[in-house]
Amino acid sequence: MIEKMKESCLPVGIDGICVATGSFVLDLHDMAQYRNEDAQKYTRGLGQYHMSVCAQDEDIVTMAASAAYPLIKNSTEGIRTLLFATESSIDQSKAAGLWVHKLLNLGQDCRVVELKQACYSATAALRLACSHVQAFPEEKVLVIASDIARYELDSVAEPTEGCGAVAILISANPRIIKVGSVSGIYSEDVMDFWRPNYRTCAIVDGKYSTKIYLKSLKLAFGDYLQRGGLELDRFKGFCFHTPFAKMALKAYQTLKGSLDSLDEKILEPALKYSRTLGNCYTAALYIGLASLLDSGSLAAHDKVAMFSYGSGCVSEFFHLELVPGFEKWLCSRLHQERLVQRKQLSYEQYRQWHQWQVPQDGHLHYFAKNIESGYRLRGVEDHKRLYEHVMNS
Ligand code: HMG
Repeated sequence: MIEKMKESCLPVGIDGICVATGSFVLDLHDMAQYRNEDAQKYTRGLGQYHMSVCAQDEDIVTMAASAAYPLIKNSTEGIRTLLFATESSIDQSKAAGLWVHKLLNLGQDCRVVELKQACYSATAALRLACSHVQAFPEEKVLVIASDIARYELDSVAEPTEGCGAVAILISANPRIIKVGSVSGIYSEDVMDFWRPNYRTCAIVDGKYSTKIYLKSLKLAFGDYLQRGGLELDRFKGFCFHTPFAKMALKAYQTLKGSLDSLDEKILEPALKYSRTLGNCYTAALYIGLASLLDSGSLAAHDKVAMFSYGSGCVSEFFHLELVPGFEKWLCSRLHQERLVQRKQLSYEQYRQWHQWQVPQDGHLHYFAKNIESGYRLRGVEDHKRLYEHVMNS
């Protein structure tokens, strides 16, 4: 018999959390018009209004650096590990985090690793980071999740594209959230969503993927309860992996057996950013957490349910607990600015950009300057990506 550990949290957790996204935004009404579809299929059917889009001089590294910079700009003390979660890898060998490490001037005594398991790997990184900090409480781990969700143009999955990054600083005695000690896990070898190395767009069996997601949720939550987890009515907030907002509603309905307007109100704070960014794969769950924290709907000691799902599939259900004074350490205003400052993209322009690929001929190519300040991908030369930090003039 496994001992009940309901309330317990690890002495470690999230000390800082910050979100970044692409600099452009596409209104899904424009996509609906082009595809001659009812826009309500996206806004009501999927729960999505916009998607963030990266310009040619942005990628997972530039978004990751923008997400992490506010957390480390005053101090990098204690950061001896950077874990980079992504499924939009830019190299088969080198960790994307090494470019971020340089852009952020992190110390040379900081190890850097990239992790992959579809959208789940950010949670794997969080778990590894927590275990590491428990063993070495004087150290901090910078976890970054960064992704660009891409499907074929004109596919049913296209309206669920998006892009974004989230940086999370894990420390002992965290200022924002402690991580619960119980977790429920469900893994199974399935082909619901995958991307062979030779493809730039994911292949997805859409309807099947939603079924496997919900099956995983039920079984991971069952495992969580069996291991001494909290009952549903103990949570003041819910974050489900959000490929599109409606999926989170279906997830809650699956756990509770019903969904009424009050439930939708409880779920909404975690969905606000997702409805306008689109799917951000590894970053999606933690962007949902930032959205919930920024909403002002939670208080100290409230518990938040977390469900992480990565196709293929691995899933995990666990909980977090808010630390008194957490509000002071959020990046809420910066998040609002970043969302509002995105530039509108026409659907025709978006289609052109969608077809574009980083040149593969090994020659020197400089990319059009779409980013006025912040981190940008300047170009490529000898098959190497060239990054720069553009300061505000
Ligand atoms: P679809 O063709 O849009 O599906 O594909 P649909 O025709 O069933 O429509 C969707 C909803 O819109 C339905 O509502 C319709 O009734 C409604 P529901 O029955 O589901 O409640 N609808 C309308 N509502 C209002 N007005 C209308 C209207 N028309 C229809 N006029 C699908 C949807 C999700 C399959 C597609 O977008 C897709 O393939 N997406 C990509 C896969 C995905 O996101 N799967 C989610 C689970 S897997 C996951 O989360 C992992 C992932 O993030 C990857 C990773 O782990 O790495 C994807």
